[in-house]
Amino acid sequence: MEQILWVILAVIAVVFIATVLFGAPFVPTHYKQLKKLVKWLDLTNQDVLVDLGSGDGRVLRVFGPQIKQAIGYEINPFLVLWSKISCHKYHNIKIKLADFRLQKLPAETTIIYLFYANSFNRSLQKILKNRTNLTIISYGFKLDWLENGQTKYGFWIYKI
Ligand SMILES: C[S@@+](CC[C@H](N)C(=O)[O-])C[C@H]1O[C@@H](n2cnc3c(N)ncnc32)[C@H](O)[C@@H]1O
Repeated sequence: MEQILWVILAVIAVVFIATVLFGAPFVPTHYKQLKKLVKWLDLTNQDVLVDLGSGDGRVLRVFGPQIKQAIGYEINPFLVLWSKISCHKYHNIKIKLADFRLQKLPAETTIIYLFYANSFNRSLQKILKNRTNLTIISYGFKLDWLENGQTKYGFWIYKI
């Protein structure tokens, strides 16, 4: 029994370490800042948010009640499982086990959320190519390749 537990723990550890090697470890956004941001933003029931690397789903849960739909792409299967459980009562939240770099942004997306250092810049630039009418929210990290960023509560906010 003890051995099985160790194997399970080892598998979980390997998955978490592997996502670090992919470029972004799991570090959640602070709830307090998220809640302040959501109050401050002019959200409508037409907004569709996509969190690129949705972690434990907290961004989806905080935005979800204020908008039409919140979608998360997450590469770590344990976090997908956890976030699906914690978001189960929100009917407008969708979480997909996926590498966001291989996903096509839904046409109705109005907000993109991300929290990682600049290692994904190229993938992001590709995703955003030819897109307009989007708000991009980056927690903690300035996106040097985007212009006219505004900072609020620790987030960088861009309109393209
Ligand atoms: C810093 S955490 C942010 C989590 C969440 N967005 C938040 O702000 O609380 C980054 C997340 O991205 C995930 N991740 C890393 N690379 C990814 C990829 N290529 N595709 C999808 N998710 C990825 C990690 O597993 C991790 O959960």
